[in-house]
Amino acid sequence: MNFLNELYHRLEALEIKEQEAIQKQHLKGKLTARERLHILFDEGSFFEIGAFVEPILEEAKKKSQQYGDGVIIGRGLIHGRSVFAYAQDFTVLGGSLGEAHGRKIAYIQEMALQLGSPIIGLIDSGGARIQEGIRSLAAYARIFRNNVRSSGIIPQISVILGPAAGGAVYSPALTDFIFMVDKTSYMFLTGPEVIKEVLNEDISKEELGGGIIHTLKSGVAHFLYDDEEHALLGVRKLLTYLPSNNFEPSPISKSIEYYEARQEFLDKIIPEDSNKSYDVKDIINIIADKDSFFEIQPNYASNLVVGFARLNGKTIGIVANQPKVMAGVLDIKASHKGARFVRFCDSFNIPLLVLEDVPGFLPGIDQEYNGVIREGAKLLYAFCEATVPKVTVILRKAYGGAYVVMSSKNTGGDFNFAWPTAEIAVMGPEGAVKIIHKKEIESSDNPEQVKKKLIEKYKTEIAIPFLGESLGLIDEVIVPSKTRSILITAFEILNNKHISLPKRKHGNIPL
Ligand code: HXC
Repeated sequence: MNFLNELYHRLEALEIKEQEAIQKQHLKGKLTARERLHILFDEGSFFEIGAFVEPILEEAKKKSQQYGDGVIIGRGLIHGRSVFAYAQDFTVLGGSLGEAHGRKIAYIQEMALQLGSPIIGLIDSGGARIQEGIRSLAAYARIFRNNVRSSGIIPQISVILGPAAGGAVYSPALTDFIFMVDKTSYMFLTGPEVIKEVLNEDISKEELGGGIIHTLKSGVAHFLYDDEEHALLGVRKLLTYLPSNNFEPSPISKSIEYYEARQEFLDKIIPEDSNKSYDVKDIINIIADKDSFFEIQPNYASNLVVGFARLNGKTIGIVANQPKVMAGVLDIKASHKGARFVRFCDSFNIPLLVLEDVPGFLPGIDQEYNGVIREGAKLLYAFCEATVPKVTVILRKAYGGAYVVMSSKNTGGDFNFAWPTAEIAVMGPEGAVKIIHKKEIESSDNPEQVKKKLIEKYKTEIAIPFLGESLGLIDEVIVPSKTRSILITAFEILNNKHISLPKRKHGNIPL
């Protein structure tokens, strides 16, 4: 046998397979696995591993031109840094996961973990390969276990580029970030046919688990893009903020620009009437390095804004109440979103900046029945647990439990600064006055006027930042336009923060 000819024959089979895949995928408005990898990685840097692994199933051999079993695995460079990836090929039995397919994914996951580099999964799959029964279930189990073992050690990113059905949803759900593409990607445990059969309900794939549903309603996914190319470029961008693993620092940007002239704007950005709103993202964009803010889950629980930015070239994670949406109140979804983000940052040593303007937790039967206590505690737990540098700036409202939760001094916030507009107290003026001056108001001839006076007194004597400052609970009341430079110094001071915690297996966050 001429082995060189055999090798050429195999390489030719891969090429034939790719040509077939191009025809099928493009018809569906999708790219092939190889085309996706080409966009994801720096030009020519992808190094495939295990291209000639043979499928177990005869049918899969035919569909994949004998080799590969419907998944490509390998390593490439993104902005010059090593990253591992796997890309499923829908044209081989719907990208379903058989034994060999699963073994390949597990192998690349294990390699990424061992070598301390991020891993990206490009998912386009009908889930466990039905014909391979328990073999495919077991293969999934190994992948899930690898996801969990890698959690908090290397960044794990999933990009949904077609269906992610059945077992195919769980691995992404165990990773740190999920990207989706509008109209061509969807995630669900069981598809519309089963729903029709079991519940007699009609629903389309899009309505059940499309990108809009998961980025707006369920919060399962973090990013939604109009097409595959932009989604993959989004992944490249996200990685510029992240370290390769939990022992390495995040990349530092050398070109530092910021909106110098706009700093003054911060001195008058908070409206005189404290019931009026403003957009906290304007503040973020002024404080952070120019155009560096990269928002996560922008359409889910937008009463809390979370995302990465750079401050003086270095990555920080920002958690900010958004007064523009539901007055910035904390509810179930926002607490959950915030907690997960804080824990990600803490796992990967990314310092946290909290911008606070929160009237409290959202009251209500619906919130109580659905566990706002547990979800609020989740955010509280996440902040208390985080040992990365934590700096809070109280922009305006900081009331009650929400003040405590948003990385207040006694939960371990390293620096708590306040703008002169800060209102810090157990509750807002109207509610507080009604409780502590009930008799006085009720017995007066002019209750409205008395109430008004008492509210004013409360605002100027109790709900003020200087009280916290005198108690050491606010480190400094700062001039808003100096915030950027103060934060740069604060994070510089905290650069070497190191906290040793008592030994334990793991905490028990209220999940
Ligand atoms: C084997 C599969 C498959 C699967 C799809 N195919 N899913 N083969 N196992 N799980 C095959 C089809 O037979 C077909 O083969 C080809 O892939 C393309 O599928 P179509 O249905 O023609 O494509 P489309 O209309 O785009 O629909 C895609 C789909 C649908 C939504 C993914 O195929 C589907 O609903 N599949 C089943 C999804 C599912 O219920 N998976 C759950 C498995 S259980 P041909 O030969 O015609 O090209 C599971 C549990 C794991 O995953 C639990 C772990 C915790």
